[in-house]
Amino acid sequence: MEMTLRKATTADAGAILELVNGLAADQIMLPRSPASVIENIRDFVIAEADGEFAGCGALHVVWSHIAEIRSIAVPTGQRKTGLGRRMVEHMLAEAEALGIARVFAFTYVPDFFQGLGFDVVEHASLPHKVFQDCLNCPKFQQCDEVAVERVLREIDDDPVRGPLSRPLPGVPLPIIGR
Ligand SMILES: CC(C)(COP(=O)(O)OP(=O)(O)OC[C@H]1O[C@@H](n2cnc3c(N)ncnc32)[C@H](O)[C@@H]1OP(=O)(O)O)[C@@H](O)C(=O)NCCC(=O)NCCS
Repeated sequence: MEMTLRKATTADAGAILELVNGLAADQIMLPRSPASVIENIRDFVIAEADGEFAGCGALHVVWSHIAEIRSIAVPTGQRKTGLGRRMVEHMLAEAEALGIARVFAFTYVPDFFQGLGFDVVEHASLPHKVFQDCLNCPKFQQCDEVAVERVLREIDDDPVRGPLSRPLPGVPLPIIGR
């Protein structure tokens, strides 16, 4: 079977939504709205097996030095064939090309990410900007996902300073526990 990766087009939105929201219905990952997939279609990489849709993943730039891996999924029948790893490696390479220093994800499968060089981190160690989308999440205030992060390069400080770029002492995060 020939496995390939390619950038998504808007024609992939239906397959992405079916896969991601099918898994979300089983509480395996968070759902995506059609608008959020279409508006962010340039974030997505598509995996194909013999030319057929076989998975997706998205790299979303959150701040000047940090990006999030979202909505990574492979259909049940295609798993454990290396597609998930290839998509993560592809997105890490994209992140490096964009000048990103840290790539994180919120996940229920930390072991998968740890096998790809990610470390489990405290939610509170991530910059405030990261939590903007949490306001729209059905699990807001009761997040049970594990935060994982891969540091691509060490940076002394945020290259674009701003109030949303780093945790602020004394300001509560919108997420309680994990
Ligand atoms: C997580 C997921 C994307 C992995 O995709 P995949 O194509 O099966 O992964 P790969 O075949 O590339 O596996 C890469 C490595 O991770 C391991 N791995 C795969 N799934 C794993 C899991 N659920 N838990 C722990 N390790 C896992 C594999 O054994 C493999 O290890 P190896 O290199 O030592 O052999 C896939 O299981 C999936 O779609 N899960 C449901 C959706 C989900 O949970 N997505 C994550 C949301 S953040």
